[in-house]
Amino acid sequence: MQISDVFAAYRGDMNQVETHLDRYITSDVKLIPEVAHHLIDSGGKRFRPLLHLICARLCGYAGEHRFPLAAAIEFIHTASLLHDDVIDEALIRRGKTSANNVWGNAASVLVGDFLYSKAFKLLAEIGDIRLVQLMSKMTNIMSEGEVFQLMKCGDTTLSEAEYLSIVEKKTAVLISAACESGAVLGGAAGAQARALERYGYKIGMAFQITDDTLDYMAREEDFGKAIGKDLEEGKMTLPLIYTLARCRPADRDQVRTAIVEKTLTPDTVRAIFALVGKSGGIDYALEQARQFIREAQDGLSVFAASPEKEQLLAVADYILSRKT
Ligand code: IPE
Ligand code: IPE
Ligand code: MG
Ligand code: MG
Repeated sequence: MQISDVFAAYRGDMNQVETHLDRYITSDVKLIPEVAHHLIDSGGKRFRPLLHLICARLCGYAGEHRFPLAAAIEFIHTASLLHDDVIDEALIRRGKTSANNVWGNAASVLVGDFLYSKAFKLLAEIGDIRLVQLMSKMTNIMSEGEVFQLMKCGDTTLSEAEYLSIVEKKTAVLISAACESGAVLGGAAGAQARALERYGYKIGMAFQITDDTLDYMAREEDFGKAIGKDLEEGKMTLPLIYTLARCRPADRDQVRTAIVEKTLTPDTVRAIFALVGKSGGIDYALEQARQFIREAQDGLSVFAASPEKEQLLAVADYILSRKT
């Protein structure tokens, strides 16, 4: 089964999610729908809503709460992208000029806040305290991850464990909550809800590690955002962390100096890319992602065979092959 087959199986449900996204970003304050539409209509993968829909169906839920909940999850993701592009001073997102680049930082931050608070309004309207607890805990961890990452920016001594902790907080917990909230809607038993929470966490780890690796090797046209950006920002990610731990001391000193003194030129960036490739940093990072995917798939053994289980297995496989 391919990822396109999975999306095809949820086309109707996903249309509903799109309708809800549209409906909830209306506002008399025109700048809000303008900025929100710019990003939301620019072709995100809708990966998190998809996971939510699959997990809800897997747990036997076919009710209406899926749609506002999937919209809330996509809003939290969208808000984090608006904020992330301000922090990262990004110029493009999803192949288009990023919102901060069109309307400036203040508008991006404030519309991000609008989307965050809209997400919680939707959750409150659903009225299930377990969902509010799950989502509020998750967004609080996300914020913590972003601040920790900010603190560590430019710190070339960042350890692999610290890196993994950032990835868990900024990315994996949201993907995990997208899955677990589907189980909550379906009233799944403890072991099954826990299995989906773990599945989401593990594919979330793989998702960000792959994203960080693509930053060293993707084609910009496919990726829809600039590559080499993490390095330029001094953001230490797994391919580079592995490389610095293993390369020759002279190479390590050169890389560290360039990052710390912010003297990266296109030539140094190319040289560091080559060093990372040669040192096996890309291969190592992709192997770690592969390992998370294997564990995620193994963890689904608590579920009997079903189309939804097949879909979750296929989504996990897709993460390793994604180029966008
Ligand atoms: C981008 O997420 C941010 C990361 C966690 C790496 P996606 O790759 O899911 O972004 P869109 O929504 O498809 O643009
Ligand atoms: C993911 O980090 C950030 C969020 C969780 C919003 P990145 O900074 O790697 O995301 P991209 O590469 O800009 O999408
Ligand atoms: Mg970024
Ligand atoms: Mg990235």
